[in-house]
Amino acid sequence: MSKIIIVSNRLPIKIKKNKNSYEFINSSGGLATGMDSIHSKKDTLWIGWPGIAEDELNKNILNDLDQFLETKNYKAVNLNKKEINDFYYGLSNKSLWPLFHYFIEYSVFDKSNWESYKRVNDKFTKCIIENYNEGDLIWIHDYQLMLCPKMVRDLLPNSIIGFFLHIPFPSFEIFRIFPWRLELLKGILGADLVGFHTYNYQRHFLSSVKRILMSNVKINRVSVGTRQVVVNTFPMGIDFEKYNNSAKKYFNKNLNYFEKKSSKVKNILSIDRLDYTKGIVQRIKAFEIFLETYPEYLEKVKLTMLSVPSRENVSDYKNLKKETDEIVGRINGKYSTVSWSPISYYYRSMSFDQLIELYMISDIAMITPVRDGMNLVAKEYIATRVNGEGVLILSEMAGASKELFEAIQINPFDLNNMSESIYRALTMSKEEQIKRNLSMQNRIKRYNVELWANEFINSLNNKNEIKSSGGVKKINESLKQSIFEKFNISKRRVIFLDYDGTLVGFNKKPELALPDKSLYKLIDKIIAYENTELVIVSGRDTKFLEKCFGKLNLTLVAEHGIFMKKNNESWVSKYTRKRKWLDDLRPLFQSFSDRTPGTFIEEKQTSLVWHYRGSDPELAAHRVVELKTELRSLISQDLTLMDMNKAIEVKSATYNKGIAVNEIIRQKNYDFILCLGDDVTDEDMFINLPKSAFTIKVGKSNTKAKYFLEDYNDVRSFLNNLTD
Ligand code: UDP
Ligand code: G6P
Repeated sequence: MSKIIIVSNRLPIKIKKNKNSYEFINSSGGLATGMDSIHSKKDTLWIGWPGIAEDELNKNILNDLDQFLETKNYKAVNLNKKEINDFYYGLSNKSLWPLFHYFIEYSVFDKSNWESYKRVNDKFTKCIIENYNEGDLIWIHDYQLMLCPKMVRDLLPNSIIGFFLHIPFPSFEIFRIFPWRLELLKGILGADLVGFHTYNYQRHFLSSVKRILMSNVKINRVSVGTRQVVVNTFPMGIDFEKYNNSAKKYFNKNLNYFEKKSSKVKNILSIDRLDYTKGIVQRIKAFEIFLETYPEYLEKVKLTMLSVPSRENVSDYKNLKKETDEIVGRINGKYSTVSWSPISYYYRSMSFDQLIELYMISDIAMITPVRDGMNLVAKEYIATRVNGEGVLILSEMAGASKELFEAIQINPFDLNNMSESIYRALTMSKEEQIKRNLSMQNRIKRYNVELWANEFINSLNNKNEIKSSGGVKKINESLKQSIFEKFNISKRRVIFLDYDGTLVGFNKKPELALPDKSLYKLIDKIIAYENTELVIVSGRDTKFLEKCFGKLNLTLVAEHGIFMKKNNESWVSKYTRKRKWLDDLRPLFQSFSDRTPGTFIEEKQTSLVWHYRGSDPELAAHRVVELKTELRSLISQDLTLMDMNKAIEVKSATYNKGIAVNEIIRQKNYDFILCLGDDVTDEDMFINLPKSAFTIKVGKSNTKAKYFLEDYNDVRSFLNNLTD
């Protein structure tokens, strides 16, 4: 039976070494708690690091460990001290974590850490491959393993791979700082489905993909060679029933306490890993401002802070610990009385039951990260409001703020506003608290962690069905052989080849996309093959084609079929209409070109093209819609508007590449027809050629062609083999 392979840097449990023994403790963090509820309910294998350096354990212990983990369906990827230092502390937590949370000044970029990141991602990949069976679904998690999807894809091209990022994806301006940004994006795009907590993170990711990889993005689909990667938002939920039921139990057991509670000191709770992204120092400072501003609350309110130790080897975390200790000490020193301290501070992790207790005894939860992918603690606090009372103060910088609208939302950098929010929370009526909490509970109860995972997995499975029923076949070895055989036994052969994107790669500047030596060699080889005619069918103008191929013994078709030149004869034009429309439309094209930096107009004899491949992709996307709307209302029926790969072209509707190739094949009785093209204009050839023709799309799979090849490199090697 097929299973889900969950892959994350950490397993949900970690080994702690005591003096003479070992113990397992729960890992901290939202990924571990959230995915653990999925692992306990589905058929899964969880691959991850058990949280200790393998050099600290002897062989026997490692074996025992593996056996123990196997009983829980866990598989360990062991890391040595150096890997932990370079991959985990180094690249993951000194580069990616701060950068993705907008702490640019904390980010360090070290080449050897990057090398280690690659090696460890490879190590995880090997473990995935070893444990993979056909039909398994691979679900890779988080920033520590962003290269894994591609590494797995390279080895298992037909596997189903999902990737989910649990932290924010930063804006392009931040992401572009990362020296190995290209590799990261390519790594993630090895997946079939990429998930984020919020739409903003999705938007930022797609923006980087467009700007850095120059990939084609249509709404939320990225074209990667012949694959389509879907990118979507799945806000992670919690196991609502688990928290709610435990809270109910606690409540019923302690009814007395809750009845008397209103007269006691009000408790404000904060729970986070001790991390600079969590806004811990800002929160304490805001609390201090509150005590100063509202002295009547002295001895009537206290802040209970649970800070879970995290990444203690990283200096920024050490400094934060020091700063937190100092500021808590200072405030407690300043305000404490014999019977009251304003801040109770715990620097450790707590068990589930202890956490429930903390949630239950708190009147207010202050969850105020300066940047946070989601923040599950905020949702857990809401789930534990069994009598509906309690106020959540939530940072608008947490992903959870997109779902928990009824919380008091604050900007964590505005300390005065945060202090005022404490006052608002303390004075909020019970009715108001209940109304807000019920509304939030309804939402997080429905979209719980199980539904979250199911939605992700279903999308991944649906995506895969679409992929396998696409109908267009990638040319594999056996297909190649049968095409080659047909080629060899034929007597009159013709090969139609588009130019840009088919014979050469895409260049930001079309004038630089010139034929290179190896292309000329290939063309000569095809022409020299007996009984074989070559036709280059291009959208380029006659001038360009003449310059590049004018002296060769082949047929040239320019401007999408309007001009034709057979062997060494002269150019013939199929188009006689007066070209007044060119003069009419030129000013409109000019104004779009002026207003969109990086774009330019190409004027051919019978068409106008606006190229936007060198411009900002998002601005260009807006301009394309504008230009198309204007053109549709201006052009007459005998003109056609073509939305091409990074270009908009207006040309005569009377001629297209399909008509041109038909004219050629009508003249001889060809028994082998091969046609390759990458753009929408090539579809006219695929549709018009007889059924027996071998039609091949280069790149995107949305086509009327029968087969596809990945890119122009594949085209060249295919044609080379064909004519060997
Ligand atoms: N948590 C825990 N033990 C603790 C404190 C917190 O298990 O002592 C859990 C908490 O219940 C929550 C998770 O750790 O499920 C923290 O997730 P969150 O998304 O809030 O933050 P992250 O640590 O992932 O940045
Ligand atoms: C966040 C990250 C997780 C990570 C967790 C704890 O939730 O998204 O990937 O596991 O923090 O951090 P740690 O470094 O201890 O694994």
